[in-house]
Amino acid sequence: MIVFGGTGDLSMRKLLPALYHSDRDGRLAPGSRVIALSRGGLTDAGFRGKVEAEVRPGLHADDAEGWERFLGRLRHVSLDVGGPRRDGWTALTHLLAGREDTARIFYLASPPATFGPFCRGVHDAGLVTPRSRVVLEKPLGRDLAGARRINDEVGAIFGEHQIFRIDHYLGKETVQNLLVLRFANAFLEPIWNSLWIDHVQITVAESVGTPGRRGYYDQAGALRDMVQNHLLQLLCLVAMEPPSRNDRESIRDEKLKVLQALRPITGTEADRFTVRGQYVAGEAGPGYLDEPDQTAPTTASHRVETFTAVRAEVKNWRWAGVPFYLRTGKRMPYRRSEIVVQFKDVPHSIFPGGGPNRLVLRLQPGEGIHLHIMAKEPGAGEVVPRPVPLSLSFADTFRTRVPEAYERLLMDVLAGNPTLFMRRDEVEAAWSWIDPIAATWEAAGTAPDPYPAGTSGPAAAHEMLGRSGRAWHEEDLP
Ligand code: BG6
Repeated sequence: MIVFGGTGDLSMRKLLPALYHSDRDGRLAPGSRVIALSRGGLTDAGFRGKVEAEVRPGLHADDAEGWERFLGRLRHVSLDVGGPRRDGWTALTHLLAGREDTARIFYLASPPATFGPFCRGVHDAGLVTPRSRVVLEKPLGRDLAGARRINDEVGAIFGEHQIFRIDHYLGKETVQNLLVLRFANAFLEPIWNSLWIDHVQITVAESVGTPGRRGYYDQAGALRDMVQNHLLQLLCLVAMEPPSRNDRESIRDEKLKVLQALRPITGTEADRFTVRGQYVAGEAGPGYLDEPDQTAPTTASHRVETFTAVRAEVKNWRWAGVPFYLRTGKRMPYRRSEIVVQFKDVPHSIFPGGGPNRLVLRLQPGEGIHLHIMAKEPGAGEVVPRPVPLSLSFADTFRTRVPEAYERLLMDVLAGNPTLFMRRDEVEAAWSWIDPIAATWEAAGTAPDPYPAGTSGPAAAHEMLGRSGRAWHEEDLP
């Protein structure tokens, strides 16, 4: 595996720990190597020292022998992709010589502007073999045109079957469990539609802010950073039709149909169906504009959203009239990702009180499934239904370590299985839906609504649901 951006944040925080854990579990073939590429001018020993200092302390369980074996797999090559010097490419070529028959994975953990030049570089150096694959990290562009450009550049060198566009949410255990819940249990499918479901909420709330990320985040914002990929992928898995097979094309075909059925949100509709927020100083810390960073805030910093809520609609028979509320934000009061499917209320109630059933899929933390049903409060008095959860905690039930998303996805790349990766048409369909929203916001030229750090977004996000008598699910679960 050749990691471009190999000493960067993603590599240190996610990729190397995932590779170590896979290695420890015996899932890396003997002779596998990880070659980190960076402009840093490190030696192999210098790179291993950095990994020892920065990666090792965060590992789940560390065994000395396994760690030494893992360190032995690591190499570093200094390479400046856009630079005039070719010596980095020569060094990489030497390292890879004689290994043309092994799977060769180019992992691009670098800004998207470098994807094209890097792919041309590996091609010009003669490093692309039939068993080569390339992994692209999000964001894939900033809009549809940018995504197409990148897809064309990478597609000029690699075939679509060799391209793995990563969305790490698809590697999360509970996200895969959603497919099992829907398609390995018969009882849900008959009620999984607009006759029984009132609305769906998808929340990815983060308590962290964006210190040190202004350069990236000013250009991305919550809509491009989270909704275009993670939240839309979750929406697809909730809304898609049952695929006929669990294989690479069947699932991606069904997800694509959902993206294509999303009702466009254009012009003034963006005022009604979307909300933008930016955190200001509050209980949880400084505001976005005051976060410590190497660069000072610019006009873009004042305009960028750190929170967004969107009311989406899937225009097809199954989902007509069912709103899908999406929201994500930084510096919210908690870190919580969940999908809430709210069913319709009983058609006629014979009790005082009660309310609709809810199915809550908790993606993180505390991975599990909770079905809120109405139960009678014990006692001899009046019969009053109360919502109580039937809860399944994955940790308690399976009593095994839940692997990190990247572990699963990296092993899928090694196995050449792209089912949990985004196909070109999916990425482009998602951008087609995002572009008009972003364009309307940009044309408005106004700042997002402020919300204090540590709160659940601006009031407008609550009003958006409140207008139809609904509310965000805020309850914490066991
Ligand atoms: C990344 C975003 O894709 O996902 C980050 O760029 C975000 O801004 C992260 O913090 C969230 O991932 P997770 O797995 O921590 O929920």
